[in-house]
Amino acid sequence: MSFVLAALFLLLIPMAGSSPPPEPVMCTHGTSGCIITNSYGSFTDRTVCHAASVTYPSTEEEVIAAVAAAVAAKQKLKVATKHSHSIPKLACPGGHDGAIISTARLNRTVRVDAAKRLMTVESGMLLRDLTEAAAAAGLALPHSPYFYGVTIGGLLSTGAHGSSLWGKGGAVHEYVVGMRIVTPAPASKGFAMVRELCAGDPDLDAVKVSIGVLGVVTQITLSLQPLFKRSLTFVSRNDSDFPEQVASWGRLHEFGDIAWLPALGKVAYRDDDRVDVSTPGNGRLNQVLLFRSTATREAIKARALEERLQQANATDAARCEDLRRQVAAVQRLGNGFTNDGVSFTGFPVVGYQHRIQASGGCIDSPEDGLATACVWDPRIRGSFFENDGFSVPLSKAPAFIAEMQKLRDLNSAAFCAAVDPRLGVFLRYVKASTAYLGMPEDSVVFDIVYYRSRIDGTPRVHADVVDELEQLALTKYGGRPHWGKNRDFAFDGAIAKYPDAGKFLKVKGSEWTDKVLGISGSPSSIEKGCAIEGLCVCSEDSHCAPELGYFCRPGKVYKKARVCSFQPTGHRA
Ligand SMILES: Cc1cc2nc3c(=O)[nH]c(=O)nc-3n(C[C@H](O)[C@H](O)[C@H](O)COP(=O)(O)OP(=O)(O)OC[C@H]3O[C@@H](n4cnc5c(N)ncnc54)[C@H](O)[C@@H]3O)c2cc1C
Ligand SMILES: *[C@@H]1O[C@H](CO)[C@@H](O)[C@H](O)[C@H]1NC(C)=O
Ligand SMILES: *[C@@H]1O[C@H](CO)[C@@H](O)[C@H](O)[C@H]1NC(C)=O
Ligand SMILES: *[C@@H]1O[C@H](CO)[C@@H](O)[C@H](O)[C@H]1NC(C)=O
Repeated sequence: MSFVLAALFLLLIPMAGSSPPPEPVMCTHGTSGCIITNSYGSFTDRTVCHAASVTYPSTEEEVIAAVAAAVAAKQKLKVATKHSHSIPKLACPGGHDGAIISTARLNRTVRVDAAKRLMTVESGMLLRDLTEAAAAAGLALPHSPYFYGVTIGGLLSTGAHGSSLWGKGGAVHEYVVGMRIVTPAPASKGFAMVRELCAGDPDLDAVKVSIGVLGVVTQITLSLQPLFKRSLTFVSRNDSDFPEQVASWGRLHEFGDIAWLPALGKVAYRDDDRVDVSTPGNGRLNQVLLFRSTATREAIKARALEERLQQANATDAARCEDLRRQVAAVQRLGNGFTNDGVSFTGFPVVGYQHRIQASGGCIDSPEDGLATACVWDPRIRGSFFENDGFSVPLSKAPAFIAEMQKLRDLNSAAFCAAVDPRLGVFLRYVKASTAYLGMPEDSVVFDIVYYRSRIDGTPRVHADVVDELEQLALTKYGGRPHWGKNRDFAFDGAIAKYPDAGKFLKVKGSEWTDKVLGISGSPSSIEKGCAIEGLCVCSEDSHCAPELGYFCRPGKVYKKARVCSFQPTGHRA
């Protein structure tokens, strides 16, 4: 065991009695000698990061002092949040000597102006608390991620979104009208200063989506709407006309999204719109399989089954049977919706925005000695997955989908294990943004969750499928990786896909963000097995796992793709 893992392991033991997610920053001596990780306990390259120290400011003055101290000491600085849910190494200062500022204690509502529908909150506030506080004042945030365990500062940094082409669209940063950010300053100004950005200030377009490299955001002012109700149902169809539907669905329904199950040739279209607040119904989303607090024993059992189905001696037939079982279970449970907060009796489900827009019960798992937890909690042997999220311009989405369908038609059973049945290939809409690192055009975001082995370098079954889809999206269709998700290789060349990147690039970041921003180095690492780990696109067999029968091969539909493909006979082409 490496030192890093040993240290992590030792640090986790004292926390083994509690079930809310573990802290992302753990230090050996009080607040110094720290390691930082994400909520899965593992960054994309399976490492954790190091920092010399962490501070937990609870006021803006304390943030200023912390930034000033780090700048005066010439330390690199990064922000961590209560749970740090992003998958890439965004929160790593680089090296061992950096400083971490955590927003875990910056979680208050600063002010609510119900008449003007403005709400100002501290940046570390969880989405759950924000939407509840807004609702208490009769207000609603119209769009948000579907998981409420993230913070407003963290979700804005990565451009996080729900789904909409209506109004300003599905990205949360479209509703930001003011921010306060603490940035490094010259010694003459005390090494740190606060900047207040208001609507119309061009710098707001840089700071709204900043992947955390511009400074520490302390406060955010959001333009909200009167609290409303929604009514939703799912329309299930075959996928014959899926390419055409994707072009129109988002225009038909304010909160439309789409879940595609390629192996079954089925699409679930979410028909979801505002209704009058007098419409009866007090529904609630309590996302069933992925975000709810889950019995550890169940999570371990599900993982064991997943691992069995990954074995070479398991069949695609067994994998597809499991997919059907899981899809049926999700449907039986109304996709996680209830009509009254308790039970599901059928669609439509009608409810208030803040009860429908997001869920995440697992972050409130009781202190029950890990009897329940989030399925991905690193302290249990539960779920371990990759989550790729990439957006394709709306105008190109139909052609991209048609090509994915071609790949599916070659071997639909391969998709049973390649894509997690709980989500399928999940599509959401985001509108064009003025934010420099936001979407330059109306886009469809594709989310794919899939199995990841806990053992470094171990391929997953039908790994070539998602690899080909993703390369197809990223290279042929101009796809842009979600800043808070994805494997490392996806960020290669990402910044060049943003016309306003130049305006953003006047900044200094960390090792990882410098690579992502193309300032120095590449986010890919070329080494043995790198394509299995998503750290590179393969260009030779050693980047895959030839000893396990995985060789670097062209894609089946997109010939320019290079994927690790299982060749059972072991023949080299
Ligand atoms: C279960 C789950 C479901 C998700 N669902 C969705 C979804 O529906 N839609 C979607 O778009 N995304 C979704 N995501 C991704 C998620 O929204 C992003 O990864 C988000 O950035 C995580 O927020 P966080 O508060 O955990 O921030 P972190 O991951 O801790 O931070 C993200 C980045 O922001 C920086 N940062 C954080 N706070 C500040 C601050 N105050 N000032 C400056 N920089 C800061 C950090 O340094 C880091 O660079 C989901 C993630 C998970 C785990
Ligand atoms: C804010 O954080 C503090 C410290 O972590 C916690 O005790 C408090 O309950 C939180 N407040 C809210 C509104 O969540
Ligand atoms: C798909 O559904 C449409 C009706 O919505 C039907 O006309 C068509 O035959 C179906 N295609 C397949 C392959 O089942
Ligand atoms: C499949 O292989 C694994 C080891 O690779 C073995 O433990 C298991 O018993 C095998 N299952 C069957 C049904 O042969």
